Amino acid sequence: MSTNYGWPENDESKKLLIEQVRSFAQSEIAPKAKEFDETGRFPAEVVKQLGEMGLMGMMVPEEFGGAGMDAVSYAMAMEEVAAACASTAVIMSVNNSLVCWPLQAYGTEEQKKKFLTPLARGEKLGCFALSEPGHGSDPAGLKLQAIATDGGYKLRGTKNWITNGREADFAIVFATVDKALGHKGICAFIVDTKAQGFQVSKLEDKLGITASSTAQLFFDDVFVPADCLLGNVGQGLKIALSTLDGGRIGIASQALGIARCALDASKKFAMEREQFGAKIAKLQAIQFFIADMATRLQAARLLTWNAARMKDLGLNYTKEAAMAKLAASEASVWIANKAIQVHGGYGYTKEYVVERNYRDSKITEIYEGTSEIQRIVIAAQEMSG
Ligand code: CAA
Repeated sequence: MSTNYGWPENDESKKLLIEQVRSFAQSEIAPKAKEFDETGRFPAEVVKQLGEMGLMGMMVPEEFGGAGMDAVSYAMAMEEVAAACASTAVIMSVNNSLVCWPLQAYGTEEQKKKFLTPLARGEKLGCFALSEPGHGSDPAGLKLQAIATDGGYKLRGTKNWITNGREADFAIVFATVDKALGHKGICAFIVDTKAQGFQVSKLEDKLGITASSTAQLFFDDVFVPADCLLGNVGQGLKIALSTLDGGRIGIASQALGIARCALDASKKFAMEREQFGAKIAKLQAIQFFIADMATRLQAARLLTWNAARMKDLGLNYTKEAAMAKLAASEASVWIANKAIQVHGGYGYTKEYVVERNYRDSKITEIYEGTSEIQRIVIAAQEMSG
């Protein structure tokens, strides 16, 4: 498949990046993706290689161990990794967008040296603990308590749906110092998962992205030193929501990669499969599927790169990131569904990658804000002026 998407024009460094990441993803990740999916094995060796290639802290400045690249490059690399393995892609996305980014944006110099640098180098892995059993779409009402104590805080409560929760070395944890303060009581903390009282209390058994862990975390009076408060007391919800703006570009890119894999598999299958005495690629019904799949994919890709470019330019990109995530995730599910239709009965079997694409695509409409939440964000921004 060509690396020329018509945008950004004549950007040789980005074309080179796509070629390098694609070559690595197709040779080192794609051949193992079926095994990762079937066994649910965490792709530790691949994550280590991603770290060595600078892909676990892509947008972090080099002085803090990152690759110093822009968000458009990040979106492009994410698509390539996701086209090979969606589980690996979300592990990478959470570390880059949901962990490195808030540390870079809100962390002190000391916090950046101590936590951001090993995370960006891929030597450590992070997770983002915002959601709770009763607070997924509505994090402003979260309940995990941060109780002030000598030299810091004690965290008490439960977090749910935490990607990388089983493997993470550090967690960005959101907790409230006083529920009566509403969202003005929410704080962000950097938690060492080796701290006493930190427990992985449940692992979810999922439809797709099976090789990435989705954990419930229990905080049994976990002590967090005062210097591990990220940002200020009461700033936690803003940190979470601004982080999710960037996270949505990552998930949009993951959705693009899954969809591209499904489209590529469909084109290959249509050119090989014969029915009625000819390749099915000759049938207009199949050609129309392929045309619609390619068009929806490219539309979603351009929305995603637009959001990333706005982030790189320092503009407010909340709406554009929500549009990108909405369009890319819905396109991904639609394209994966059509890919199975192109494959007929074969597409419903585990022998063909489109079956995995279909299962993996669904989560992109749910995590880091459901499609309904993205519509709420877009409508609010549209109507605010
Ligand atoms: N950036 C910074 N601040 C923001 C913001 C943004 N994008 N959006 C809102 N805020 C601020 C507001 O300015 C406001 O602050 P002030 O009161 O000081 O002005 C405050 O946050 C609350 O704003 P709202 O009243 O608009 O917020 P709300 O409570 O009505 O919620 C929402 C809005 C869009 C529904 C939001 O809660 C949301 O995005 N929910 C979805 C959460 C989500 O994506 N969860 C997934 C968790 S991560 C995950 O999936 C797990 C994983 O591991 C992958």
